[in-house]
Amino acid sequence: MSSFKEKVIYQIYPRSFKDSNGDGIGDLPGIIEKIPYLKKLGVDMIWLSPIYPSPQNDNGYDVADYFDIDPVFGTMSDFEALMKQARENDIDVMLDMVFNHTSTEHQWFQNALAGEKKYQDYYLLKPAKADGSLPTNWDSKFGGVAWEKFDETDLYYLHLYDVTQADLNWRNTEVRKKMAEVVNFWLEKGVHGFRFDVINVIGKDAELVDSVAGNEKSLYTDKPIVHEYIHELNQASFGQDENCVTVGEMSATSIENCLLYSQPERQELSMAFNFHHLKVDYENGEKWSTAPFNFQELKDLFNEWGEQMARGDGWNALFWNNHDQPRAVSRFTDDQEYRVAGAKMLAATVHLSRGTPFIYQGEEIGMTNPNFALIEEYKDIETLNFYQELREKGLAHAEIMAIIRSKSRDNSRTPVQWDQSENAGFTTGTPWLKVADNYLEINVKKELASGSIFAFYQKLIQLRKDYPVIAQGNYQRYKDQHEQVYAYLREYQEEQLLVLNNFYGKETQIEIPTEFVSGTVLISNYPQQKVGAQLILRPYETLALYVGDTKI
Ligand code: GLC
Ligand code: CA
Repeated sequence: MSSFKEKVIYQIYPRSFKDSNGDGIGDLPGIIEKIPYLKKLGVDMIWLSPIYPSPQNDNGYDVADYFDIDPVFGTMSDFEALMKQARENDIDVMLDMVFNHTSTEHQWFQNALAGEKKYQDYYLLKPAKADGSLPTNWDSKFGGVAWEKFDETDLYYLHLYDVTQADLNWRNTEVRKKMAEVVNFWLEKGVHGFRFDVINVIGKDAELVDSVAGNEKSLYTDKPIVHEYIHELNQASFGQDENCVTVGEMSATSIENCLLYSQPERQELSMAFNFHHLKVDYENGEKWSTAPFNFQELKDLFNEWGEQMARGDGWNALFWNNHDQPRAVSRFTDDQEYRVAGAKMLAATVHLSRGTPFIYQGEEIGMTNPNFALIEEYKDIETLNFYQELREKGLAHAEIMAIIRSKSRDNSRTPVQWDQSENAGFTTGTPWLKVADNYLEINVKKELASGSIFAFYQKLIQLRKDYPVIAQGNYQRYKDQHEQVYAYLREYQEEQLLVLNNFYGKETQIEIPTEFVSGTVLISNYPQQKVGAQLILRPYETLALYVGDTKI
């Protein structure tokens, strides 16, 4: 068994992956059908976004039962068949554990509503302040306030996310025991990976207080007690299985905390996702705005995280895309002129770096944002909430649509484009979310026949297995002030790797260290060039130079 350092993980958003029965929603039999495709790509593990029974207000991140499969995705025997098919293809399965909150349709919340004290203590119920105002002045991350009236009582329940996602009370030992039971249930089904949704906000203080001067997130994020809860969960469940791979989704986190979450001796998690590099195109920290990305800030973040996590023996989960982010190829490159070169360059930056790379479905064929014209074509709850909010603030419809086109989570949720048939071969029915118009041009079938992005990913995945410096090496910034190039050095025993990435659609020049002049090109997205002390990098060129004695 290879360690998580050599693995590459592929994220599936089941609703949008492949529909098998024509209801317009992707499902487990659809995933089973495509396992050979994923095997061909070479990934070690697939992470499935939530597949549990749910009212689907937040597409399954509002769980109503942790121990079953939502009929929209299939049955438990479909799940078992998927496990079997995956195992036969040497692919492991990672499940999404949404433990900060449950759906308000979960039996626990329903029992709480029915007046059962035991279950009321599963949630964060608080009375209004003496003056009748809400328990705290916190905002929901999906817009509006974070408190909702708890039925006819004088109490309010906390929801950091949607009003139908009620935050759990992790101070209650019974809640913590239940969560360990959930993990153990899926471990017994042969699941070897867990992704923990917004896990760094589970630990709230006993007394919740008003935020002042924008310190709201610090009141519930990365609290020291979160580390205790995760360690306890580790010991009571996945920590018993040494092959298990775990990753925590960390909202607004710090390097310091991610070191603690991922240092092996702390027995918390294998690795952590952070999102700082995906906020470099936020204007004054505001997601719902449009701004060009700040390249220097992007590099500084990669370099700080890369170097400090290496120094402290922590481990990063590396990614550009997921179901909450616009497509990186549209966001950080020119998806009209340089889509193919851009997709490969972004892939190389992540796959050759220190950490475990994650691929999000469709990324391996260079899928783009769909640029829908109408607000009705967007389905995401966060997008629709903010549309309302921005309207109320007085922004014009057209202005808001421009923001949504670049920022909506639906950008990555459009159905996977499999072929040129109707609905891109995703469904024979009406897809729950429209297929992007460019599916005749961009689809799996065409990519496998004549494209080059998929093959580039295959190669990157294989390189990680063949060259120890990629999985094991340290990380060091290189020429970090260069105007167009993000570059880094990796080193492990006698091996050295230099990775150069031109983030712009115009040529540039960079000087390389002398030892690399006689190095070999491990991978590049352009026809080979002669390596000299000065290199010209073409638009969106990526080039990795290797010095060492691994011979493949
Ligand atoms: C995470 C998920 C996101 C979800 C939220 C609330 O950020 O990735 O999709 O809406 O948590 O569960
Ligand atoms: Ca279906």
